[in-house]
Amino acid sequence: MAKDTKSKVSAIGVLTSGGDAPGMNAVIRAVVRRGRSKGLKTMGIYRGYEGLMNDEVRELAAKDVSDIIQRGGTILNTARCAEMRTDEGLQRAADACRRNGIEGLVVIGGDGSFAGAQKLANLGINTIGVPGTIDLDIACTDYTIGFDTAVNTAMEAIDKVRDTSASHERVSIIEVMGRNAGYIALWAGIGAGAEDILLPEKYDYDEQRIINNIIETRRKGKKHHIIINAEGIGHSAAMASRIEAATGIETRATILGYMQRGGSPTSRDRVCATVMGAYAVDLLIAGKTKRVVAYKDGHVTDFDINEALAMQKDIDPYEYELSHALSYDYSKI
Ligand code: F6P
Repeated sequence: MAKDTKSKVSAIGVLTSGGDAPGMNAVIRAVVRRGRSKGLKTMGIYRGYEGLMNDEVRELAAKDVSDIIQRGGTILNTARCAEMRTDEGLQRAADACRRNGIEGLVVIGGDGSFAGAQKLANLGINTIGVPGTIDLDIACTDYTIGFDTAVNTAMEAIDKVRDTSASHERVSIIEVMGRNAGYIALWAGIGAGAEDILLPEKYDYDEQRIINNIIETRRKGKKHHIIINAEGIGHSAAMASRIEAATGIETRATILGYMQRGGSPTSRDRVCATVMGAYAVDLLIAGKTKRVVAYKDGHVTDFDINEALAMQKDIDPYEYELSHALSYDYSKI
């Protein structure tokens, strides 16, 4: 197809950076197919910014992104690149873009990856960020690619732990990912009907209250107790030992770990990834740079990267209040 005559770029690249997330492949597919449909040359950059600096770049045609929309992980591989925090590294990345004829770059990742994209844009490379992280910790957007799949994975795992926890009449502490953010914990915990959900944003949990509640609920006949602990609080094994010692009830800790980052993306992740990837290409075609694609109130939109990086996000107060109000606490009934 001939190049869109109004397009401000003729060749674009796409890379994935930071922790992988289910749905990243769907973004790559959308970037390539949207770009090709507008007559652009589309290039895949392997191993994130590090691969870019080392010219790990190859043209991707429409057929090269067949059969990936349903696959977890990223076909481009990903890496965290410390060199992008240095002036030399940034210059190397900008030079590599020019050497490879990349006029516009789509960066799929989180805040750290966007900080690199913002600085690269200052060196004259048009960059657009697409939020891909299971953590949901990017303030400018209501949604990040991978979150829905990760929450569903965590919730299903919690359901399974609940079966065995109930059979053995145990207390279970289940630690979920999220780095310093508690969104996976909050959603998986509410979705699985957990008794307690511990979030790093709040750090207000009272272990003695939890212990008292476990003892009281057990006395009144409740057979198990599920505590969801966010990675940002951590120390689940030590917490389990303390709770077991104080209650006399067997308590086990399970750390779900990397399984939460894998698996086939849900329909929500695939569709949001497709829309956001195509939208990123549309922004580059329109000559935009230093933007982050976002979902706000159900619609795709974009923000200036500087503004996006400065925004703060907090736990939804109503969801937080419910996470306490709906737990099985005998002192309340
Ligand atoms: O950002 C995604 C995430 O899975 C976090 O939830 C977690 O803290 C981190 O990445 C783990 O990173 P790594 O893959 O470097 O161990």
